[in-house]
Amino acid sequence: MGVKAMLHSYERSALIGNSESWVSLWTHSFPEVEVLIPAEQIQARVAELGAEIAHDYSAENPPLLVGVLKGSLVFLADLMRAIPLPVQYDFVAISSYGAQTEHTGQVRLLKDLDSQIEGCHVLVVEDILDTGLTLHYLLELLRTRHPASLRICTLLRKPERHLVEIPVDYCGFVIPNQFVVGYGLDYNGRYRNLPFIGVLRTTNLEPK
Ligand code: IMP
Repeated sequence: MGVKAMLHSYERSALIGNSESWVSLWTHSFPEVEVLIPAEQIQARVAELGAEIAHDYSAENPPLLVGVLKGSLVFLADLMRAIPLPVQYDFVAISSYGAQTEHTGQVRLLKDLDSQIEGCHVLVVEDILDTGLTLHYLLELLRTRHPASLRICTLLRKPERHLVEIPVDYCGFVIPNQFVVGYGLDYNGRYRNLPFIGVLRTTNLEPK
């Protein structure tokens, strides 16, 4: 069945669900991506993380969520709606990978926070902790601004790749040393909109 036919084969409400037809629409549309963590499992884990974070902070002292663009956007959007506290959010943009799958070792701030964080409870929200160089750089920078507290929440971590030790407070999933895409993570700018985390079925991951 073609994608258009599949789209018409179920109710619109199923688009935001995890019905079988919804899942097969996505996997059918991206046959080159093998599912590693299904959308349903991500949603369940995000709900758990949200509850954990809500438990650790309070309505009087809610966290300021600092998302690292662009990868954390999808995770942050879901996570903040799983935290029933008056949270605020802001973004930084940091270049590390560029369009490559190997870390260049160079980290650069492309966009700073809009808000002051002195005295704030900052919770950095990251898509993936790989070598750790990006978060190491960001934590050093944020510490100089004297937040009341500074914690880390990452959706994924690849322990085999860590080059520096980063104190992670909340982690969604520990994954093997594989290059993953989806749920905000890209390969050459693509696949960020996949609702699941997957692995490209090709062995050649050179930039196009
Ligand atoms: P780190 O500085 O090596 O920890 O890398 C952090 C950034 O590299 C992440 O925020 C991602 O944008 C990118 N990255 C690391 N591993 C992957 C991956 O498997 N897929 C897509 N992007 C990745």
